[in-house]
Amino acid sequence: MPLSFNTRMFHYLLTVHLLLLSTAVVATEFGITYNPSVPKLPPPDYVSSTIQSLHFPVVRLLDPTPISIRAFAYTNISLLLSVPNRLVPSFAANRSAASVWLYSHVLPYHPRTHFSLISIGSDVISSSYDDVTIDPSTIILPAMRNLYLSLRDFGIRTISVSTTFSFINVMTTSFPPSSAEFQEPINSLIIRPLLQFLDETNSSFLINIYPYNVYKVNSQIPIGYALFQENPYNFRDDIITGVRYRNLFDMMVDAVIAAMAVSGHENVPVIVTETGWPSNGNNEAETVANRNYAEMYLKGLVMHLRSGMGTPLRKEGVAGAYIYQLFDDFDPKKNGYSNASRSMHGGQNWGIMYNNMTMKYKIDFSHSERVLRNHKELVEMVLGLLLLVTGVLLLL
Ligand SMILES: *[C@@H]1O[C@H](CO)[C@@H](O)[C@H](O)[C@H]1NC(C)=O
Ligand SMILES: *[C@@H]1O[C@H](CO)[C@@H](O)[C@H](O)[C@H]1NC(C)=O
Ligand SMILES: *[C@@H]1O[C@H](CO)[C@@H](O)[C@H](O)[C@H]1NC(C)=O
Ligand SMILES: *[C@@H]1O[C@H](CO)[C@@H](O)[C@H](O)[C@H]1NC(C)=O
Ligand SMILES: *[C@@H]1O[C@H](CO)[C@@H](O)[C@H](O)[C@H]1NC(C)=O
Repeated sequence: MPLSFNTRMFHYLLTVHLLLLSTAVVATEFGITYNPSVPKLPPPDYVSSTIQSLHFPVVRLLDPTPISIRAFAYTNISLLLSVPNRLVPSFAANRSAASVWLYSHVLPYHPRTHFSLISIGSDVISSSYDDVTIDPSTIILPAMRNLYLSLRDFGIRTISVSTTFSFINVMTTSFPPSSAEFQEPINSLIIRPLLQFLDETNSSFLINIYPYNVYKVNSQIPIGYALFQENPYNFRDDIITGVRYRNLFDMMVDAVIAAMAVSGHENVPVIVTETGWPSNGNNEAETVANRNYAEMYLKGLVMHLRSGMGTPLRKEGVAGAYIYQLFDDFDPKKNGYSNASRSMHGGQNWGIMYNNMTMKYKIDFSHSERVLRNHKELVEMVLGLLLLVTGVLLLL
């Protein structure tokens, strides 16, 4: 017996309904980097309310102070804490050094302040260029293990442990992305054992990704390709995989994913700990470091991450991304940056705000997930109603 129209309609609606339920749009969580140890900034409580009003769900604290951590208590913001590089050797040498740090930075505030992850240093490899007594391959993983075990000693299982790399210091190439690998000997000495640890502990791979820096040294890249501008000519094909890239950011992310796959750990989540564009340069020659381009980059990034489209090699995209950074910081040398990151950021302004809390750009950072969810709920409600009506008609 052929199914009646109503029955077919009912099945059709049911299928659409189930499909909708299974295709949740996952937008990447994006946040902001804030260094509370920079002098002459507004007080942390004030900064924390500003960050809440901008609707960032996650915040990365560089060189966190206990007061700044307390300022995020009773907010729905999750913190990624970055342990300063200068403490990494002591964490590696002695588990109690890690415990002492947790005693002052985490235990008094957990769980009223939410912590998602603690990074052992940021770009420790480049700080070892300054201090020859530091051998990153002998300290990074031991420091991570000690912090991990120390958290377990305190019965805390919800905070992951990782470390932060810088794209330009660890990758061989970004093009074609599918051929990218981690540089040797960093790969065998540090990254491969580290990926094993991240896999075993359900943690994430953290990396700073600056299309700005890659653009600066590759004059053949169109500026629009670095700035997320839609243009028929703004693409690059990976001739090996046949995949087309529409922006430099995705290409760099996929280079990281491809390099992780070579080590057999392609499923470890990737978090972009820093990305951004400077609003002014070191000198007149740096014409691409300007407010217009910075605004275009940040707007493009926000829209891209909200779309939930992911990258060609990872359809769910990066698990998180943090804009670098909240405030301009005028004296990076005093703030304990390595020479390498000083030459990367020095003299430039990367803040999305002036130190008087005025926004530099007109960008809506508020998370779109809520909007998407509401939209989905509405569609589901209408479909549910239709299902009900058809069901009732069927019974008649
Ligand atoms: C945090 O989220 C919960 C649940 O979504 C909500 O009820 C609460 O009001 C939020 N708190 C703040 C401070 O935003
Ligand atoms: C480890 O650190 C603790 C506390 O900082 C200190 O008392 C102890 O002497 C250190 N142990 C070693 C072997 O360095
Ligand atoms: C790092 O900077 C300091 C101070 O400017 C300088 O003395 C030192 O030689 C630099 N180190 C390297 C490796 O460039
Ligand atoms: C990692 O996640 C898996 C699956 O959710 C779980 O079975 C496992 O116990 C977790 N491992 C750790 C170390 O948390
Ligand atoms: C904040 O500082 C910027 C840059 O110094 C300036 O242009 C702006 O007018 C200031 N805003 C307020 C409200 O003081």
